[in-house]
Amino acid sequence: MKKRLLKAVPFLLLLNISGMMAMAQAVKTLRLDAAHPIADIQPTMWGIFFEDINFAADGGLYAEMVKNRSFEFATPMTGWKETNKTKDAGNLLVLNRNEVSQSNNPRFIRVTAKNAGNFGITNDGFRGMGITSGAVYNFSVLARMATGTNMNLRLELVNVKGDKIGEASTSVTGSKWQHFTTSLTATATDPKAKLNIWFEGTGAADMDMVSLFPKDTWKGRTNGLRKDLVQLLADMKPGFIRFPGGCIVEGRELATRYQWKKTVGIVDDRELIINRWNQEFRHRPTPDYYQSYGLGFYEYFELAEDIGASPLPILNCGMACQFNTAEVVPVEQIDPYVQDALDLIEFANGDQNSKWGKLRTAMGHPAPFNLTMMGVGNEQWGPQYIERYKVFTKAIKDKYPDIKLVNSTGTDPDGDRFKYLNDTLRKMNADILDEHYYRAPEWFLQNASRYDSYDRTGPKIFAGEYAAQSKGIASPDNRNNWQTALSEAAYMTGLERNAGVVSMASYAPLFAHVDAWQWTPDLIWFDNLNSYGTPNYYVQKLFSANKGTQVVPLLREGQPLAGKDSLYASAVLDKVASELVIKIANTSAVSQSTQVALGGIKRPAAMANVLVLQSINLQQVNSLEKPKAISPIMEQAKVIGANLSLTLPPYSFSVVRLKASW
Ligand code: AHR
Repeated sequence: MKKRLLKAVPFLLLLNISGMMAMAQAVKTLRLDAAHPIADIQPTMWGIFFEDINFAADGGLYAEMVKNRSFEFATPMTGWKETNKTKDAGNLLVLNRNEVSQSNNPRFIRVTAKNAGNFGITNDGFRGMGITSGAVYNFSVLARMATGTNMNLRLELVNVKGDKIGEASTSVTGSKWQHFTTSLTATATDPKAKLNIWFEGTGAADMDMVSLFPKDTWKGRTNGLRKDLVQLLADMKPGFIRFPGGCIVEGRELATRYQWKKTVGIVDDRELIINRWNQEFRHRPTPDYYQSYGLGFYEYFELAEDIGASPLPILNCGMACQFNTAEVVPVEQIDPYVQDALDLIEFANGDQNSKWGKLRTAMGHPAPFNLTMMGVGNEQWGPQYIERYKVFTKAIKDKYPDIKLVNSTGTDPDGDRFKYLNDTLRKMNADILDEHYYRAPEWFLQNASRYDSYDRTGPKIFAGEYAAQSKGIASPDNRNNWQTALSEAAYMTGLERNAGVVSMASYAPLFAHVDAWQWTPDLIWFDNLNSYGTPNYYVQKLFSANKGTQVVPLLREGQPLAGKDSLYASAVLDKVASELVIKIANTSAVSQSTQVALGGIKRPAAMANVLVLQSINLQQVNSLEKPKAISPIMEQAKVIGANLSLTLPPYSFSVVRLKASW
C-alpha cells in the first residue's frame, strides 16, 4: 500500500506531502447558492464524438463480419484466401463490371468449380470474427450464374484451430444478380473465427457483397450495429453525437474526403474508400483499413435518434487535412461542397417530396431527423478557412437561418492559429466555436478556470475534442489510466460551472479495437466479442447522466473551487428530478473532509447518494479482463441541519445527488 501511494505522488509534483497531511485534518466549507442560478444547462451539454478511427466503424460499431465483402480494397482479395483441396478443384477471377456499366462497386469474383466442394474461399473477418455459441448469423451474397444452372455454397464457421463451429448452405441460381441468404447457428464461442465458403457443383458463379451479420444487432436491424457498443453509448445519455470525424472528414487529399452522399441509399451501391488512418501512423500501420460506408449518414442519424442525442454532422469545407496535403478547392469552384451541406439539411429535415427527403423516406424514415446544427470543417486553420467558411455561412444561413454552425478554431487551444481564428470568428459573430485540446493531465488541472473569463455574449463554445494524454499527443504509449480520467473530471467541473458559455463538450476519440487501433487514448475499447468503458468513460457518463438543468454557485471563500487544496467542484439543480447535484474531484493523495452549506435549499433529504470513482493507483486502467476495475461505487452522505458532510477519498471523483427543493 505504502509503495502504491508513493508511486502515485508525481501527479502532484508541486505539492508538499506533509502540508497535505495537515490539510487532511481541516474541514473545508463550500457555500452553495441555489437561489441564484448562473445559467441554464443546454440539453446538448455532454455528448459524444464518433470518428472512424481504430476500426470504430467497419470492424467495430458496424456489425458486418466479412472484411472486404465487395472486393473493392486496393488489393481485391485482401482478407480472403483461396483453398484448393485437390488439384484443379476450381479457381476464381476478379472481374470489373465498369467495362459494361458504371458502378460504385465495380468488382466481383467469378468462381469456377470443377468438382464437389473441393474449392473454397475463407474470409478472416476484422482480426477474426467474434462468434458466440448459440447465436444466429445471417449470411447473404449478391450472385448470379455465369455458366451452368446452379452452384451450392456450403458455409462453415471455423474457430481459430480450424474446427467447424457452425454450418449452412445456400444455392445460387439464375443468370440475374440477386441476393441469396441463409443463416448459421454457432455451436461454440470464438473471438477469432473465420468463414469458409465451399463451392459445390460445376459451372461459374459471380459473387459480390458477401456478408455475415449477427442476427442480434442493436434493435435487431439488418445492416445493423453492434449491440454492446451502442448500449455503452446509450448508457451515457449523450446530448449530441458529432460524426463522422475528425480528420476523416478532411481526407489526406480532397479526393478522399468524406462525402455523405456516397454513404446513403442502397448499401450495395455505396462506394468504398480507403480510410485515412490506414497509413497515417508508421508505428501503427493498418493496410486493411477501409470505409465500406455500410455505416453511413442515414445510420448515424438513426443512431442519434435511438440514443436521444442531437445529430451534429461535420462536413468538409473545401479543405483537405492541413497536416497532409493541405489541398484546398478554389473558392470559385466551391459550389458542390456548399451544395452538399444544403442537401444534407434537406436529407435530414426535408419534406418527403423533396429530392433528399424522398431518399430518407425510401430508406425507412419519413419523419425528419430534426437537424439543428452542422459543423463546417474540422481542424482547419488560416485565412483560407475563413474565406471558405464565409461562403458556407452565407449560403446556409440564407436558406436555413435557424441552423447553428460549428466552426473550427484549429488544432490547439492556444497559439497563433487559435488566436487568429478565435479573434476573427468572434468579430464575425460565429454561432459556436469548436475548441480541441489533447494535453497532459497537468494542463487539465491548471486550466479548470479556462472559461471563467470568456465573454458570455459572444459565440458559444463546443469543447469538441479533448482527452488527457498520459505520454504525449499521438504517442502509442498513452493509457486511459485513472490519472488522465481524474484530471478530465476536475477540468469538466470548470466546463459545467461555465455552462453559460460552454454549450457542448465531447471526449475524443470514442472507440478502439484492441487489435487494430491507431490512436490512443480512447473512451471505449473492444475486441470482437467484448467491450469495456475506460475510467474516462465513467467520468463522461457521470457528468452526462447527472447533467441537471441549471448551474448554481458553489464557492469556497468567495471563489469557485478550481484547484485550491487540489479540489475542483461544480453544482447544478435538476428541476426534473428535484435534486441538487454536486460534482467534486479530489486530486490529492489524501482524504479530505468538506462541508457544503446548503444555501437556498429547502427540505433537503437526510441522506444524499454519492457515486464515487476512486483509485489510489493513478496508473490503474480498466481492461477486457477487469472491465470495471474503476467504476462508480454508491455511497451515502449525511445532511445535518443545513449542511451536507462529505468525505472525499484520495484521488476520487464524487457525484452527490440530494433530494431537495429550492
Ligand atoms: O481524434 C483523433 C484526431 O485528432 C481527429 O481526427 C482530429 O480532429 C484530431 O486531430
